[in-house]
Amino acid sequence: MKKEKAIIKKESWKPGTVLAPVPPVLVSCGGTRDWQPNIITIAWAGTVCSEPPIVSVSIRPERHSCTIIKATGEYVINIPPASEAKHVDWCGMVSGRDVDKFEHTGFTTGTSLKVKSPLIVECPINLECRVKKTVALGSHVMFIAEIVGVQVSKNYITRSGRLDLERCGLLAYAIGNYYRLGPLIDHFGFSVRKRKKKRLKR
Ligand SMILES: Cc1cc2nc3c(=O)[nH]c(=O)nc-3n(C[C@H](O)[C@H](O)[C@H](O)COP(=O)(O)O)c2cc1C
Repeated sequence: MKKEKAIIKKESWKPGTVLAPVPPVLVSCGGTRDWQPNIITIAWAGTVCSEPPIVSVSIRPERHSCTIIKATGEYVINIPPASEAKHVDWCGMVSGRDVDKFEHTGFTTGTSLKVKSPLIVECPINLECRVKKTVALGSHVMFIAEIVGVQVSKNYITRSGRLDLERCGLLAYAIGNYYRLGPLIDHFGFSVRKRKKKRLKR
């Protein structure tokens, strides 16, 4: 028998940035002769193309990091573990104009292979990015950049060479709140994958 569908009533909200959850990332920049290394917390980040691999981050023009990235054309997206939630929040509360965020958080600067901006060693995934296009959108400037280097922490790589994301314990951000990423449900394509028949034990 067909199951009755529950009635779900909707309420209309004013248009807003309610896309959730998103990964809150730590974007490191600077590290050149003219610009000290800095970190900014970013929620408005995303993948926008696979080949070439392109991402975007959107930053308000008044942020110190916006000035740095405009000048250097580079940044690193560092994906933080949930255990660093407090530092993620803090890096989004203070400006690199007033404080050295690497020194205060104790984050270790790692050497990027393709860009001058340092990466954050404590983050399991680091994406080295070179800006291709800058788009002024309104409240935010979007820096569209090619990922020119990827570094991952060796201690999270399995024997078969895969990144053990569950052990990384990644962080999620949804409408003002931080969450720990939940347990794995299944893998890409599982909805159409044919199940292997269990062999009967003889
Ligand atoms: C969870 C979180 C997400 C944020 N996302 C963004 C963002 O996407 N774009 C932005 O311009 N600022 C964002 N901010 C605010 C900046 O991180 C904050 O203004 C920071 O202090 C700027 O640092 P800076 O002046 O050193 O660049 C976010 C802050 C938090 C806590």
